[in-house]
Amino acid sequence: MGRVVTVLNQKGGVGKTTVALGLASAAAQAGHRVLVVDLDPQGSSTWVLGLDPAMVELSAAEVLSRTPVTKAMLPSAWGGEVWVLPSSPRLLPRDHGGNPTRLRDALAEVSDQFHAVIIDCPPSLGSLSAAALAAADHAVIVVEPSALSLRGVGAVADLVDEVWDSHNPDLELAGVIVNKVPAVSGEADRRYDELTRTVGKRAVWQPVIPQRVVVNQAIGERRPIHAYGSRSAEVAEVFDRLWAKLRRVTKG
Ligand SMILES: Nc1ncnc2c1ncn2[C@@H]1O[C@H](COP(=O)(O)OP(=O)(O)O)[C@@H](O)[C@H]1O
Ligand SMILES: [Mg+2]
Repeated sequence: MGRVVTVLNQKGGVGKTTVALGLASAAAQAGHRVLVVDLDPQGSSTWVLGLDPAMVELSAAEVLSRTPVTKAMLPSAWGGEVWVLPSSPRLLPRDHGGNPTRLRDALAEVSDQFHAVIIDCPPSLGSLSAAALAAADHAVIVVEPSALSLRGVGAVADLVDEVWDSHNPDLELAGVIVNKVPAVSGEADRRYDELTRTVGKRAVWQPVIPQRVVVNQAIGERRPIHAYGSRSAEVAEVFDRLWAKLRRVTKG
């Protein structure tokens, strides 16, 4: 089984970037190497990993137009285990076209250097998310336990099916990661139950990710979630377990 994993949802703010980077943080903690591919023109994960998307010379946009990925990927500010294929604003016009399998070919050249390649998607189901799925072995949908977030899951699953059908027979919907789960909320509990009924219990990855101030703080301070000692120990352990799950999935 392959090592390329796409994290997606057409909704913004659900935690795609947070999940991609939390997994990268857990990987680094375990001494594993990951490449984060930032396909969001907003460049959030690029920025959190210590680079300014506006200053990046070679980005995922150039890789989509045939620049070798080895020229564009860089070690992040998080240390040698976490590498990044950065975003740039030049990705924006790419969300309206382009060769859907170019990224797949590019990542195939480097994926065996990493324990996983994690693609962070823009909040849309346009051609960048389609390119991410065409390049991936596994798709993971990130949701919040809210009505609006869950309404979009069907459309994401449809895109996964479409890309599987037209470009990538190896693509597998690996499951759903639930983020921003509040400590006590009847509404969130009901939405969680609704999700497990809709996608099936086994498709929902455990554990779910709690809503915690330190998660937001780590993103804002551009640091790995594991860097906050006892303040982040609970959330860091959640990401450790999700990383272990992802490793099982990618090993098949
Ligand atoms: N579990 C969480 N607890 C608290 N804040 C969170 C959590 N997950 C995400 N956030 C915050 O929510 C915002 C949106 O998250 P982000 O990962 O950027 O979403 P997306 O990539 O889907 O647009 C960010 O400010 C982030 O810090
Ligand atoms: Mg994001």
